[in-house]
Amino acid sequence: MGDMTGQVALVTGGVRGIGAAISARLAARGVTVAAGYSRDTEAAKRFLEDHPGCSAHQGNIGSSSDCERVVSEVLNEHGRLDILVNNAGITADKTVRKMPVEDWDRVIQVNLSGAFYLSRAVLEHMLERGSGRIISISSIIGEAGNIGQANYAAAKAGLFGLTMSLAQETARKGITVNCVAPGYIATDMVAAVPKEALDKVVAKIPAGRLGEPDEVARVVEFLADPSSAFITGQVYSVNGGQYM
Ligand SMILES: NC(=O)c1ccc[n+]([C@@H]2O[C@H](COP(=O)([O-])OP(=O)(O)OC[C@H]3O[C@@H](n4cnc5c(N)ncnc54)[C@H](OP(=O)(O)O)[C@@H]3O)[C@@H](O)[C@H]2O)c1
Repeated sequence: MGDMTGQVALVTGGVRGIGAAISARLAARGVTVAAGYSRDTEAAKRFLEDHPGCSAHQGNIGSSSDCERVVSEVLNEHGRLDILVNNAGITADKTVRKMPVEDWDRVIQVNLSGAFYLSRAVLEHMLERGSGRIISISSIIGEAGNIGQANYAAAKAGLFGLTMSLAQETARKGITVNCVAPGYIATDMVAAVPKEALDKVVAKIPAGRLGEPDEVARVVEFLADPSSAFITGQVYSVNGGQYM
């Protein structure tokens, strides 16, 4: 493991769910975490209490101007930005036949365009310093598709294309770009799935259970580590064997 002390990470949706587990892992390595959130100010307050010296930044990642503002805030406050974790995401599930165009647009905007806006916003700084880590949280749904989630699946699969292209563009500049694709993880997002449907999902997971946020976070920590410099353009699946 390399030394990450003094590094700065921007983790979108970093104050709850999988993002909070990522923030906690990075903070434990001596990284100053700038955590993004959109509406949950209570979770943001709790995050600041739990992580002295870290910061919380409100903004909608579906807005390019919010993304640019948040990156400026982080650079002004902390002076550097070593790691970007594109974690925040939403769902708006319906079959294609019933899906309003607005739900399609919103999910693509937040889950895919948000990662592009932020990656673009951090790039100049990372290129100037000749180092950086960009890690996007995709999903098993991006790998396999799912009934009622065409918008989410398209956005999450789109992250693979963004990752591989940006990885090639930056590989000689000291920047790595990777994806983590979780299966079903016990967070509020999965708590929104009706119990009957969730039981059916769990029955199809070879490991026989949901994953824990920290089981995703440990892979993000691994990819963010300075010693992972030769790993770029990859997708790491964390899904209890549900998709192979
Ligand atoms: N849970 C799973 O089973 C699972 C599986 C595969 C992939 N994932 C992916 O993992 C990531 C985290 O999932 P999770 O389960 O931890 O989700 P979650 O508990 O629903 O948390 C989502 C986080 O994203 C933030 N967020 C939502 N919309 C935003 C926006 N427009 N701008 C900025 N922040 C926004 C939320 O902030 P506010 O609360 O302030 O709105 C929240 O902090 C997502 O990308 C998700 O798609 C999750």
